[in-house]
Amino acid sequence: MNSKTDKIYPDSGVELSPFTAKNYDQVLNIASFGLYRGFIHQAIKSMDIKPNDKILDLGCGTGRNACLMAKYLNDNGKIIGMDVSSIMEQQFNKKCAKYPHIKFIKQRIDLPFSSAEQFDKIFISFVIHGFPHEVRQTVLKNIFAHLKPGGTFSILDFAEFDLNAMPSLYRFVFKKVECKYAFDFIARDWKQILNSYQFTEFEEIFFLKKYIRLLKAKKSNSNG
Ligand SMILES: C[S@@+](CC[C@H](N)C(=O)[O-])C[C@H]1O[C@@H](n2cnc3c(N)ncnc32)[C@H](O)[C@@H]1O
Repeated sequence: MNSKTDKIYPDSGVELSPFTAKNYDQVLNIASFGLYRGFIHQAIKSMDIKPNDKILDLGCGTGRNACLMAKYLNDNGKIIGMDVSSIMEQQFNKKCAKYPHIKFIKQRIDLPFSSAEQFDKIFISFVIHGFPHEVRQTVLKNIFAHLKPGGTFSILDFAEFDLNAMPSLYRFVFKKVECKYAFDFIARDWKQILNSYQFTEFEEIFFLKKYIRLLKAKKSNSNG
């Protein structure tokens, strides 16, 4: 932890200030001119959640996504949200209180962790772009270790695109708002990276003029 900024990675944009963390859902609604609500419903619908699924949501934030996922589950289904932030923990527990099969674990996802169980689906939404690339490798190892053979990993995040080809207003906003790790994230070939971790059968669903993508990948049928 960097004592000057209280951030683990001082240049990261996904370790939020207390104000942004407290008001995260409202900030997204306002910053997206109300488009976020429809977009996130659509993205979660595209995850093909089955009623019995056990889902791990990494960097889960306020619990907004977990509550949307819970609608697809029956009593045997389960969601674990993991996040490092106490402010997010409070909001998550309040928002998800009516769902007994949703739990929060306060846990850094950028360090190796071990949970007793494996999951049918692992979801990470607008988190992994904000880490240095070497740290993303640890996150991917955690994901591989905690996904059942044949399970699905879904990344909801920026798609790969050429920043210089972006319309100038969007480019200005992206550069103002996003951290340096996001610039690196959009320039990488994520299917190739995931393939090196034995993920296959990719499926992509694009949103918001193809700048956002839900990338789904299957873990091979062995734990190998
Ligand atoms: C941009 S927010 C996205 C929240 C949520 N996934 C969503 O889509 O609404 C990033 C989240 O990642 C969490 N986070 C950042 N670094 C983390 C880390 N090292 N371990 C666990 N969570 C982390 C933050 O606390 C925050 O809740």
